[in-house]
Amino acid sequence: MRKKLVAGNWKMHGNLAENNDLLNAIISGVTELRSESVAVCVPYPFIPSVQDKLKKTNIAWGAQNVSQYDKGAYTGEVSTTMLNDFGCSYVIVGHSERRTLFGEDSKIVAEKYVAVQKAGLTPILCVGETLEQREAGTTEQVIGEQLNAVIALAGVDSLSKAVIAYEPVWAIGTGKTATPQQAQDIHSFIRSGIATQNASVAENLTIQYGGSVKANNAIELFAMPDIDGGLIGGASLIASDFIAICHAMQN
Ligand code: 13P
Repeated sequence: MRKKLVAGNWKMHGNLAENNDLLNAIISGVTELRSESVAVCVPYPFIPSVQDKLKKTNIAWGAQNVSQYDKGAYTGEVSTTMLNDFGCSYVIVGHSERRTLFGEDSKIVAEKYVAVQKAGLTPILCVGETLEQREAGTTEQVIGEQLNAVIALAGVDSLSKAVIAYEPVWAIGTGKTATPQQAQDIHSFIRSGIATQNASVAENLTIQYGGSVKANNAIELFAMPDIDGGLIGGASLIASDFIAICHAMQN
């Protein structure tokens, strides 16, 4: 059976005191859940303290971005080796906010994906279409291109050590969730496309849904056959909501 994963993407929110309260609540709220089924991806400066709090728990942690380069004169960047030093398991790559606000194209995203895997970390590769692209009927083409850029550089087998997150851009932070069927259709498109290249990789691939997942819609989304958990933004900052979403995954 493939692994389900709910991961919180804190984005650029929080401070030490707030994180402490949030993590204390989450730790006690998910104790009975399977190990490796819950993760939080936090801003870089908080990684050491998050590691300290989570290292003896069933919750994994990770980063929201990383450099594609190993080391060198790259002012302001953080390498995969640095993330490894602090026990990270996951790194989000290709989030739409990085693609649109920070100019990361598919080539950069693919390079970051490769760097993350080379360091033994698991990339959470985000793909998704904008509203204009959906309305123009190009959703599958856009997602196909985003995936193919990674597969072309890293090979389809690399997906056995990755997580994909389908995040329709129009659903991120907008309160507009894809319907369970809309999300399922794209998840199935992603899985079947990969299956044409490697059936067992496709079958075992964790594909999360992200975009306004809340405590009140998680159960129906996660009940769909190709949705294997979620990548959670806003609701991951509210302990009771995030805990409820983690429990929804187990249903
Ligand atoms: P929201 O859950 O706030 O819509 O954010 C989704 C997201 O971008 C997760 O990476």
